[in-house]
Amino acid sequence: MSTSKVFLGTVCHLVDDPWQAGDGALQYWQNGALLVRDGRVAGVGEAADLLPPRSEPQPEIVDCGDKLIVPGFIDAHLHFPQGEMIASHGAQLLEWLEKYTFPAELEFASVDFANAAAEIFLDELLKNGTTTALVYATVHQHSAEALFSAAAVRNLRLVAGKVMMDRNCPQALRDSPEQGFEQSLELIEKWHGRQRLEYAVTPRFAPTSTDEQLRLAGELFNSHDGLFLQSHVAENRAEVAWVTELFPWARSYLDVYDHFGLLGERAVYGHCIYLDDTDRRRMRETGSTIAFCPTSNLFLGSGLLDYRQAREQGVRTSLATDVGGGTSFSMLTTAEQAYKVTQLCGGGVDPLSLFYEMTLGGARALAMDHQIGNFQIGKEADFAVLDAGDNPLLERRLDRAESIAEKLFALMVIGDDRSTAAAYVLGECAYQR
Ligand code: GUN
Ligand code: ZN
Repeated sequence: MSTSKVFLGTVCHLVDDPWQAGDGALQYWQNGALLVRDGRVAGVGEAADLLPPRSEPQPEIVDCGDKLIVPGFIDAHLHFPQGEMIASHGAQLLEWLEKYTFPAELEFASVDFANAAAEIFLDELLKNGTTTALVYATVHQHSAEALFSAAAVRNLRLVAGKVMMDRNCPQALRDSPEQGFEQSLELIEKWHGRQRLEYAVTPRFAPTSTDEQLRLAGELFNSHDGLFLQSHVAENRAEVAWVTELFPWARSYLDVYDHFGLLGERAVYGHCIYLDDTDRRRMRETGSTIAFCPTSNLFLGSGLLDYRQAREQGVRTSLATDVGGGTSFSMLTTAEQAYKVTQLCGGGVDPLSLFYEMTLGGARALAMDHQIGNFQIGKEADFAVLDAGDNPLLERRLDRAESIAEKLFALMVIGDDRSTAAAYVLGECAYQR
């Protein structure tokens, strides 16, 4: 039996990239409605046009009042085991990994710990209106199992992978090239394409993998349709210098990954701060994506990504929290910090472009724009309902806003997780404040 629901509120989404299409990329309806049938968008527009005449059978109506109904947010890079180590003080990347990150990931040797952490992690995503994410587990195969199993129960669209690392980290966090390959393959065979789940081959970053592991990661990435690849590149100056020592033959840090066949569509690289023009050209030619992680880059003192330059050079971009180098699960807060980084790089990016990165742009970067990212008819009905929450300052600011772009910007700058009134997955309520 087919089930229909109508969500009433201020509905807004992007149908194109505002960077190219300008404000015409935005569609919104103040007295809007989102019609959902069997978990998919069946209509969007003015409520008066979408509600059936009173004489006909009525769908279930969920009245969101003057709240904003937006596509669910997409976080293109974060770490499942690092949720509880956010706010670890006083270190930059390499020291931070040794001192805080690896010890936190060692705890995931326990299956029970990993299972419990997976529930907390997914709760946190939904509480922030994030309905899709590209996620690093730990090196333990069962940590990825824990995350996939928990996401399957909630029917989330999620991509994740077990970290591969076979050197320059604690012994207990190492796999071997063969183990990393075999365990990833088992996870691919079990989870890739199951329900709404997909797999990302996940060599942590070049310093923690031998040449042989990177070679096998490349072989794996190119072995199945639709696989993702996630890693880190050019985040921190000391890290870049270390890669030069470890891979003296490479033209650049990115060139290491290029050499092993690790660039391509569905390859998503965190940070990309210290790429050069040749690297950005290779990112563009291969369709690889930058995951812009502003809260992490500021917190770890890594540097400022020149987002505008990346876009001007035609590189695919996305926005990401990078929890727990990143300091918030909120994509609104992440957009705020992205704005501030662009300000420091010579010009604040417009609110609609930030909204794009969190929704349709993120979906395009993950090659999921035929499934999610906006309210086009037939897409999966994953969405967030936003308002001022318990913040009177934000409420007053939203009241004064004269456009949707202004409202979205106020939500980014002043809002946070408390601005998510509800999150829906395939039209079913997955979080209610
Ligand atoms: N580079 C390698 N591993 C990590 C990680 O866990 N977080 C960040 N921010 N950078 C990394
Ligand atoms: Zn990261």
